[in-house]
Amino acid sequence: MKFPKIRMRRLRENAGIRKMVGETAISPADFVMPLFVVEGIPVKEEIPSMPGQFRYPLAEMGKMAKELFALGIPAVILFGVPEHKDETATSAYGKDGIVQRALTEIKTACPEIVAITDVCLCEYTSHGHCGVIVDGDVANDETLENLAKQTVSLAKAGVDVMAPSGMMDGMVGAIREALDEHDFDHVPIMSYSVKFFSSFYGPFREAAESAPAFGDRRSYQMDPANAREAMREAELDVQEGADILMVKPALAYLDVISNLRAEFDHPIAAYNVSGEMAMVEAAAQNGWIDRKRVILETLTSIKRAGADVILTYWATEAAEWL
Ligand code: PBG
Repeated sequence: MKFPKIRMRRLRENAGIRKMVGETAISPADFVMPLFVVEGIPVKEEIPSMPGQFRYPLAEMGKMAKELFALGIPAVILFGVPEHKDETATSAYGKDGIVQRALTEIKTACPEIVAITDVCLCEYTSHGHCGVIVDGDVANDETLENLAKQTVSLAKAGVDVMAPSGMMDGMVGAIREALDEHDFDHVPIMSYSVKFFSSFYGPFREAAESAPAFGDRRSYQMDPANAREAMREAELDVQEGADILMVKPALAYLDVISNLRAEFDHPIAAYNVSGEMAMVEAAAQNGWIDRKRVILETLTSIKRAGADVILTYWATEAAEWL
C-alpha cells in the first residue's frame, strides 16, 4: 500500500476545488458599519488612532448611508458626540439630539438602510461613565430610567434597531418595556450581551470623547477571564427579550462567540472593535503585514467562529473587495 492513503491536499489542489469546499464565506450583507456623528463640526475629521475612519458632521450622514447601501451593506450603527455633556446625559434624550437628527437625515436619504443606535450614556455624560453616578459608582436602576428615556426618544426619531451597550443589569428588559409601552413593539433589540472590560476600546474613546474621567468600567463590563459568566449574561438577555446577541470585542473572544453560537439559535453579532482594527492598521503602515489579506482573514475568522452579523470599521473597504 502506498502511504498516505488519505491525502488532504487533494481538496486544496486548485482554486476551483478550494472554492467548492470552502466552509465560510463573508459577504457585504454580513457587515454593519459604525459611524461617528459629531455635533458642531463643519467638516469630517480623520481619527488619528483609526486610520481611514472619520468623525462626521451631521450633514454627511445621508450621503454616507446611500454610499454604504449601494455597496450592499445593510446597516449602520450610530455613535453620537454631543456638544453639551452633563452629569445625567441630558443631550441623549432630546428630539434635537445629535443621533436623533442623524436618524432623520439617514432615513430620509436612504429609507432602506437599517439604522442601529448604540444605547448608552457614556458619550453624553461629563464624567464619561455609562450611567448616572451615585456615591462614586454607576447606579444601575437609576441608569435604567435614563436608558428608557433615551430609547423612547430614539424610537420616535425612527431608529430601526436598538443596541444597548452599557452592561447595566436589566437594560434589555427596561428598553423592551419602554419600546412596548410607546407602541414601538416592532423595534428589535441587538444587545451587547457579552461586553468585556477591554483595553481594545482605546481608539473609540478618543473618537467618541467617552473615556471615563475617573475610575474605570470594571464594575459593569465583564472580566475578560470569564467565559461561563458570558453564557449567564446572554441567557438573561434572552429572557429579557433580546433579539440579537452581541459579543464584544470579537478577536480576543472568538471562543465566546462560538460558545454562544452552540447554545443559542438567536442571530449572533460580533464587534471587531477599534483597538483590534488599529493594531492591523499600525502593522500594515509599517509594512509588516499584507493589510488586505489580514483584514479578510480577520473578518472570515469572526464569521467562522459563529457570528452572523459583523460590526466592522472595514465594512466599506471589504465590501468593495468582495
Ligand atoms: C459604549 C461603546 C464603546 C464601544 C462601543 N460602544 C466604548 C466603551 O465601552 O468604552 C467601543 C467600540 C470600539 O472600540 O470600536 N457606548
